[in-house]
Amino acid sequence: MSNLKKEILSLLDREQFISGQNIADTLGVSRTAIWKTIQSLKEEGYSIESVTSKGYHLKNPPKYLSPTALSVLIGQSGLFSNVEYFTTTPSTQKEAFRMLSETKDSFMVVAEEQTQGRGRFDRHWDSPGKTGIYISLVLRPNIPITEIIRFNLFISLAISKSLDEAFGVDTGIKWPNDIYLDDKKICGFLTEVVSESGVINAIICGIGINIFKDDSRLKIPTATSIEDIIGSSEKIDVDSFMERFLDNIEIYYNRFLNEPFSLIREDWKEKSIIFGKELRITETGSMFMARALDINEDGFLEVLDEEGNIRKIISADIEL
Ligand code: BTN
Repeated sequence: MSNLKKEILSLLDREQFISGQNIADTLGVSRTAIWKTIQSLKEEGYSIESVTSKGYHLKNPPKYLSPTALSVLIGQSGLFSNVEYFTTTPSTQKEAFRMLSETKDSFMVVAEEQTQGRGRFDRHWDSPGKTGIYISLVLRPNIPITEIIRFNLFISLAISKSLDEAFGVDTGIKWPNDIYLDDKKICGFLTEVVSESGVINAIICGIGINIFKDDSRLKIPTATSIEDIIGSSEKIDVDSFMERFLDNIEIYYNRFLNEPFSLIREDWKEKSIIFGKELRITETGSMFMARALDINEDGFLEVLDEEGNIRKIISADIEL
């Protein structure tokens, strides 16, 4: 990602014009370079107005994600050292696994479209271009693999809070890996791990979020998008969502590393949508009906089955 794009973007103002000469002098480059870079930002979706004798100003950020804004955010991140951005790719999860050997750092893979998006239990994940956000986070904690249950709980809270803060909605967490809005799924994530002798080498957490309306989603009656819920795409600012998302991931990942689940348990329970409901649970191939009772200090879900037994569940497929 060009540094010049980032630098120009940081100088462009929403309220005031700045002249091409002023930008050129500040950044020590030619006015032609400024002009070319502005054209390229416009192609990325930035609405930049240029008025003779006044200069440039930023009218609107792009409707969808901007790789430049994302790369600025990653530059400020205390967690991720790099973002790999694709307009299209088979799967960000696949790319993330491929890149594991290239660096020991934490990084992110982001795509506008996936042609072979993959969900939990190897299900297909619909990923049409520029209608959702498709992200794989690669994190490198040096901790036992058994901690991964706690990771899912912290991360689900981070995603849910980010959606609420950015879009003014009230999402709910459907244990273990789904985020719901108005009884429909808006986001799913899957957590995969590379480990050695029981110690995590990398967590590869793939997150798919439905942002804009898309006809292909009509065939999945249990799915929805932010646009479907808030009724218009006008107020959707994907770059602002990414800012909230990166902040919350950093906060909750650090809390995951340093705190027990008990410290976020009440917050998590407030966001959970499964308590008190009749659930169809499929665990290691067998299905049973049960009612969710509680989540214990270790992050295990406690349910009451139809025979009156209390069962503790680590991971399962759950239907409401
Ligand atoms: C699920 O609900 O089953 C989890 C869906 C996870 C989808 C995301 S999109 C980004 C990343 N790349 C993939 O191929 N899958 C995950």
